[in-house]
Parts: sequence; structure tokens; C-alpha cells
Amino acid sequence: MKIFKNFSLQEHNTFGIQVITDYYIQIEDRGDLNLLTEQIDFSNDKYFILGVGSNILFTNNFNGYIIQNRCSEIKVTEQNNVYSIIRADAGCIWDNFVEFCLNTGVYGAENLSGIPGTVGASAVQNIGAYGREVSEFIYKVEFFDLIEKQFKTISANDCKFTYRNSIFKNELKDRALITSVTYRFPKKNELKINYADLEIYFSTNKIEINPISIRNAVLLVRNSKLPDYKITGNAGSFFKNPIVDSIKFKHLLSIFPDLKYFPVEENKYKIAAGWMIDKCGLKGFVYENAAVHEKQALVLINKTGKATGREILELSEIVKAKVFNTFEVTLESEVIIL
Ligand code: EPU
Repeated sequence: MKIFKNFSLQEHNTFGIQVITDYYIQIEDRGDLNLLTEQIDFSNDKYFILGVGSNILFTNNFNGYIIQNRCSEIKVTEQNNVYSIIRADAGCIWDNFVEFCLNTGVYGAENLSGIPGTVGASAVQNIGAYGREVSEFIYKVEFFDLIEKQFKTISANDCKFTYRNSIFKNELKDRALITSVTYRFPKKNELKINYADLEIYFSTNKIEINPISIRNAVLLVRNSKLPDYKITGNAGSFFKNPIVDSIKFKHLLSIFPDLKYFPVEENKYKIAAGWMIDKCGLKGFVYENAAVHEKQALVLINKTGKATGREILELSEIVKAKVFNTFEVTLESEVIIL
């Protein structure tokens, strides 16, 4: 276990916000978790478990402990004709995991290529993109219960996965330090390209559709729309796509016939927040050192590299207010604000 005092988090959040944490603790093996409970009183002390900081906005210095799990082993634990089971440590970089799967001939995660973050965060956030959500493949999650000081395992069913949500953001928030995620990939994996951007890519490029070409297509589409955080700080989509009932949906559609939406379940519709923000004329809108991304309005960026967390938060409030005034829909942030 490594402990750093008065540590800058600028390199540890993809917005590139300069803030200081009182303590920064790196976990290097499972044994460190017991040491951690001697160091921190988890019932009283302030702490936060950070992956690579790709879904977080720091608005202030952090007066407590930031904990980062650096364990990153990946293992195929079972293979048969029906499925492959792969266990990955929570600190593993998500895209390295996707690459490992493809190199091992295990398919399913290709649509989730290029998402910044860790394996642990994939379960917390139920990451999703291009027609797939990671909860389709999660089998079980192991975590260290910081209050009861013991390792526990829960099945995917008990993780209560919904759109960008899980038990780890609710009942187990501030309590579970995820140590590993086990995924189960069916051998008979259906390739999914029924997402507008992928359909366009494959119909214009006439390339054979296989898991590797899907990964390449996803990486290309992502790179063409989403800014590279190493160049321009951002945390991907800042807001979730709001889900509305059919009454609200029909009302919106009658006023905005070009509304972009996806039916999600009976009588529920997910409305493209990026489209709404764009429709409000906010694409490229600049506020102090922050801005709405020019190619994808759902993404807020640290435009000059000097933005403070406050500036990005204020920009998000402006966006929310404008969307509410136009559509009477409240946007919720996807990014965790600290
Ligand atoms: N749109 C616009 N203008 C914009 C942005 C989007 O008109 O400025 C339209 C698009 O043309 C499209 C629709 O809105 O018709 C949806 O846009 P897109 O396909 O880019 O996806 P999204 O709903 O904005 C979601 C995820 C992304 C994920 C993409 C691709 C959320 C909050 N975001 O974005 O995830 O990469 O789908 O699957 O669900 C993330 O979570 O950080 C993230 C990047």
C-alpha cells in the first residue's frame, strides 16, 4: 500500500481539474485492504474510491482519503462449449480487458471498446455504448465491505443493474470496494451493429462484420465524436439520457417531430440528451474556461485546460436550465460531482 499526503489529483481525473486531496492511497494487493481498515475509520472519515477518474468532477479540494485500487490481473477461469468465464481485478483498465477478451477469442465486449475507466467502474456504472451494456455479461462481483471488514461476493442479479446504475451507487455506496468482476460471455455471441453509427459505418465501408471489425468501428466512431481527454479534459457524457413516460413522450414528439429517442421498455422512452442540448443551440457554447463539445453536445469539456470544477458545474447548470425551459425535462448528471 502506498500513501501520499497533499496529493494533486490533476493527473487522476480526465477533466484535468487541479485539486488536492489530503491523502491518496494506492492498493497494490488484497492484503492491503486489511491495512486500510486500520488506517481509515470508514464510519467517520471522508473517503472516495477512484478508478481512473473518468467519470468524476472535482469541484473542491478533497479533505479526506482518495483510494485507488491498482490490482489488475485478468484470468480465464472456465471455458466450455457454451460460455467463457473471465475474472478481472477491479483496477484493470477497461479497454485492456476488452482487448484481452478479443485476443483470447472471447466475444461480446467489442461494442464497449474504448470506454475510459476501470473494470471496477464498469460494474458501478453499468457502462454501455453502441447497443450493449456491460450488465449483459457480468456474472458476479467481489467486493471488500469496508464497514464489516470482509470480502463478499454478489451475483449479477443482486447488483440491481439499470441504465448507468447499480447497487454500488445506492445501497452499497461508500461501503463496497470492488476487488474483482467476473464476466460470463456466451460462446454463441450475437454480433450487434444495430446502432445508427455502426450501421452507417458498415454499410459505407463494406467491411466483413466480426468482433474485431466491430471494435475498430467503435473506436473510429468514438474518436470522431468524443474528445480525447489527454488533449481536452472531459468525462464523456456529462448527463444521462432522460427516460420519460409515454404521455410526456407523445407531447414532446408533437412539438419536436425530429426528436431523437429510443423505446426502452413498455411506455418508457429514452430521449437523446445530446440532441436536446444541441437543439437549444448550445453546441460549442463557451462558459469561462469550459465549453459544450462542438461534435457531441452531451460532453462538457475543459476547453482551455484551466477550467475549475466550479466552472464546469456552472456550465452544466446553464445547460440544464436551458433544456428544462425548452423541453420541460430535467437532466441528471451522469458524472459524479464531488
Ligand atoms: N445528437 C445530436 N446532437 C448532439 C449529440 C447527439 O443530434 O450534439 C443525436 C445523435 O445524432 C443521435 C442521438 O442524439 O441521433 C444520440 O447520440 P449518440 O449516438 O452520440 O449517443 P448518446 O445518447 O449521446 C450514449 C452514451 C455514450 C455512448 C453513446 C454510444 C449516455 C449518457 N451516453 O450517448 O456514452 O458512447 O451513447 O452508444 O448514455 C458516456 O456514458 O460517457 C458515453 C460517452
